[in-house]
Amino acid sequence: MPDPLTTPATELPVRRLGPEDLSRCLALSEDRAWAREERKWLFLLENAEVYAIDAPSGDLAGTVTLTRYGMAAAGIGMMLVATRYGGRGLGRRLMTHVLDAAGDATVFLWATEFGRPLYEKLGFEALGVTEARVGRLRTGHDPVLSRPADLDADLGALLALDGEVFGADRADLLARLFAFAEEVRVTEDESGLTGYAVSWRSVDTLFIGPVVADGEAVARALVTDLARKAGGLVRIEAERARPGLLDWLGERGLSQAFSTSFMVHGGRPVPGDRTRMFAPMMLATG
Ligand SMILES: CC(C)(COP(=O)(O)OP(=O)(O)OC[C@H]1O[C@@H](n2cnc3c(N)ncnc32)[C@H](O)[C@@H]1OP(=O)(O)O)[C@@H](O)C(=O)NCCC(=O)NCCS
Repeated sequence: MPDPLTTPATELPVRRLGPEDLSRCLALSEDRAWAREERKWLFLLENAEVYAIDAPSGDLAGTVTLTRYGMAAAGIGMMLVATRYGGRGLGRRLMTHVLDAAGDATVFLWATEFGRPLYEKLGFEALGVTEARVGRLRTGHDPVLSRPADLDADLGALLALDGEVFGADRADLLARLFAFAEEVRVTEDESGLTGYAVSWRSVDTLFIGPVVADGEAVARALVTDLARKAGGLVRIEAERARPGLLDWLGERGLSQAFSTSFMVHGGRPVPGDRTRMFAPMMLATG
């Protein structure tokens, strides 16, 4: 096996991983002081395309995930290069591999400050900042304004709503997410569904996303109702361009843990109607 310390990065093989590589992915996360997100990694290994460069030790030297949304769009995530292999072009090698694999799709990702310089060099443009908000969400005496989704009866309307807002086909991934989820809730009025949102667990935290809603009041109701079952930390990714939502999250006890830049390759327009997308599914998938 070629050694990334002595082989030019452009000659290193990139391998598609499977669920059997879970422990290697966790070890790489730990190397970069990222949480050991076992459930999330397994979800990605089973439902996205995870690519890696191997190290001679049997560990992974680097990873990246590609989540395809039909032919039109794709999300990139989990870009990690082990500390000892950093600065040798492995990040660039992995990114160019998934960009090639994505073909003509509109490709987006959330960049940390470490990844952003590389992504800019590869033609990504930042469209905004997203805050990871974490804390114990105080639900107070708010009335319950949503109901659990009935995944037989609501599925068609829910997927239609998501298709309009996300702008690309993620029906298969959503079906897998609903199986992985803690809860899926919907809001409705006389005309039909006005929103839906999902909560799912990773390590000690209840993540809320995606949140799709006709307006901020609906988004708040969905977040509040999902958070009732948290029993601990809640996390949601919220855009800085939504100061009203951020203020409300702050009042309810969620503060910024870190921030990322939302970037799109080639400055392409993002599909769908993002005015109704209040939180992404997870930073790793778009
Ligand atoms: C970000 C990360 C994946 C980069 O991997 P890497 O293998 O060290 O990156 P590369 O060696 O391929 O460098 C990529 C390019 O970015 C440039 N670059 C890296 N950091 C930079 C910085 N702070 N400022 C300017 N340019 C920078 C390099 O010079 C290089 O440019 P070149 O290809 O034109 O020579 C790695 O540092 C990492 O895993 N960080 C921790 C996890 C993380 O934050 N991941 C990103 C998630 S979005």
